[in-house]
Amino acid sequence: MTKVILDKHKRDWWKSAAFYEIYPKSFQDTTGSGTGDLKGILSRLDYLEKLGIDAIWLCPVCASPQVDNGYDISDFRDIDPIYGTMADMEVLIAEAGKRGIGILVDLTLNHSSSEHFWFREALKSRDNPYHDYYIWRDGDGSVPPNDMRAAFGGSAWTYVPELGQWYFHQFAVEQPDLNWDNPRLRRELYDMMNFWADKGVAGFRLDVIDQIAKDPDRKITANGPRLHEFFRELSREALSREGLVSVGEAWGADPERARLYSAPDGSELSMVFQFEHICLDQQSGGEKWDLAPLSLPRLKECFRRWQQELYGTGWNSLFFNNHDLPRIVSRWGDDGVYRTQSAKMLATMLHGMQGTPFIYQGEELGMTNIRLELEQYQDLESLNLFRERTAQGYDPQDVMRSIRARGRDNARTPMQWTAGENAGFTTGTPWLPVNENHRFLNAEAELADPDSVFHYYRRLIALRKQYDVFRDGRFTLLCPEDPQVFAYTRDTDAAHMLVVCNFSGAEAAFSLPEAFRHAETLIANYPGEPDTLRPWEARILYHE
Ligand code: NOJ
Repeated sequence: MTKVILDKHKRDWWKSAAFYEIYPKSFQDTTGSGTGDLKGILSRLDYLEKLGIDAIWLCPVCASPQVDNGYDISDFRDIDPIYGTMADMEVLIAEAGKRGIGILVDLTLNHSSSEHFWFREALKSRDNPYHDYYIWRDGDGSVPPNDMRAAFGGSAWTYVPELGQWYFHQFAVEQPDLNWDNPRLRRELYDMMNFWADKGVAGFRLDVIDQIAKDPDRKITANGPRLHEFFRELSREALSREGLVSVGEAWGADPERARLYSAPDGSELSMVFQFEHICLDQQSGGEKWDLAPLSLPRLKECFRRWQQELYGTGWNSLFFNNHDLPRIVSRWGDDGVYRTQSAKMLATMLHGMQGTPFIYQGEELGMTNIRLELEQYQDLESLNLFRERTAQGYDPQDVMRSIRARGRDNARTPMQWTAGENAGFTTGTPWLPVNENHRFLNAEAELADPDSVFHYYRRLIALRKQYDVFRDGRFTLLCPEDPQVFAYTRDTDAAHMLVVCNFSGAEAAFSLPEAFRHAETLIANYPGEPDTLRPWEARILYHE
């Protein structure tokens, strides 16, 4: 099947598209530094073209001290030397474009690095023109303005004795929050986005975008009072160029808010990343580290609500994985005997829905979590957690269990290209250990096996472009209470699709609705059609 190339100047091209997230640090190294780079991505474009994706969400490659792996940007208009040069970036945009692949630049509009010129100026004096680009409160240094906590641990306020002021940061100390109430700051950000648009990018992934309109005095971070006003201005000033796509990370979104953020008239963003489904296997009132089993009926209800409530009124992204989340096959599938089947089942369940799928590098191979010792972890979030929780009296074994299940380094291990040394990722020492299972789990092996997870994803991506019902069909959930089976239909006036998934490692009963008895199978992860569903079995049936 030849790849259908979507015209990126056409409105809403992204509704039939598949996106692919690249974490550049771990994708492909070409210099032996142990860290991936832009030339490495360039060298793998043929692979991505084969997979059939339409756009790359490229995690931050701008200049950065790398405290948070690039999410601490010190120059939004330059490339970090660890990744290459602006010329490399221009070549990448052009070469990807030739293959029908657009590039989305990942921007942290909520914060900058403390090494950014603006912040260094802001530190000089209260009268400095850049001072008000950040959020300050006066004090004598003894008590912070309030008890707000930063996402990576510690207070959300850091004191600067020379100024007699505290600055606000929702993430690391080195990631001061930007003050969106300042119109000059907003203008700078829009100009910078237009700089990238001029370079030919297809759009933007906007980091924690629902947290830009904060009001720290009232302890409001997400969904602040001026958020929609800012989104509309952002859209007018920077996103309205024809075809530019924007996906906003919004941990605080519910369907009602997401409808506004992704309104079909394009007045705000194209779509959001919302995380409700991702938070279902944690204890209620707890954090992601507080592990709890997943209830399938709750997961189904969550997807049903989003699918139905956004239908015709907004647009969602579809994802299980990204660089902040553990590998889905280890989390909700079986990364042992049924790794291949469960990886395919999870992909079927998700890609059958309405929305734009985002595949995270290695997901298309069924890559798994890694088991590391504390000293091997690199992520400041996991390291801070260990320090904080053990100081609070948690059992270190329990904390390690949480880190191994949920730590962000699970997703960040190097891409597994071959069975060879360092999985073909680097000739040097990889910045994070390579998973030992690359000996059998790697792209080279999967490309050669027509039955691999890779080829299954490739077929799913192609099907979504071939059959409009994937984009347009209404969603109906079947058997909501069934503890094993996740099944739903998608219907338009012209076509009908049934997605059936056994979300378990045991056989499951499912009685096929009459209308689908003679339907065509579009894709399945097992041959034949016995009466019961085999472990992790998935299939999509179709009739007109
Ligand atoms: C969300 C990003 O995905 C994550 O990796 C980062 O640490 C925070 N935002 C802060 O920028």
